[in-house]
Amino acid sequence: MIHITRPAAIVAVIATLAVVGAVIFFISSKPSQTPVDGRELYVRYCASCHGTGGRGDGPASKAFRRRPADLTRVRERYRGQYPVREVMAAIDGRSPVRAHGDSAMPVWGIVFEQEAGEKEARWPRRTVLLQTRLIAEYVLTLQ
Ligand code: HEC
Repeated sequence: MIHITRPAAIVAVIATLAVVGAVIFFISSKPSQTPVDGRELYVRYCASCHGTGGRGDGPASKAFRRRPADLTRVRERYRGQYPVREVMAAIDGRSPVRAHGDSAMPVWGIVFEQEAGEKEARWPRRTVLLQTRLIAEYVLTLQ
């Protein structure tokens, strides 16, 4: 009995290890293509205008007629509810805020999509969505 089930158990263990190994290999094989840190993304794409602390006082902010928004008070402006969807829409360019004629706020959806294309990201649209979400979640921590 034992010598019949034991090989099956060994095969099962090896199969499990192989799957786990494959998953780890898949995740670690392209580390530079998967942005995972909202703060890092914020510093790279947003801080020049909105400031490291999000107050709209980044080094480039003075160049604009319309000052970059104070991102530490988004929740306050939305009466205490942090509007993650609206913030994501403002970032990727779907928001009607964009309609403000002279807005200097770049349309990040397009930038992220181009970058994802250049890096040959596996799922460019998901990469854009993930980046946008991570940044919006980081902006939440600035409130
Ligand atoms: C080149 C300068 C610049 C950069 C870089 C920039 N923004 Fe902006 N952003 C602005 C300006 C200017 C406004 C105000 C635009 C307006 O009201 O039309 C704005 C508005 C916003 C708003 C709307 C806020 C509100 O309450 O209506 C959000 C949210 C925002 N930015 C987030 C971001 C995030 C997140 C990033 C990084 C991915 C970023 N911005 C990068 C200039 C910039």
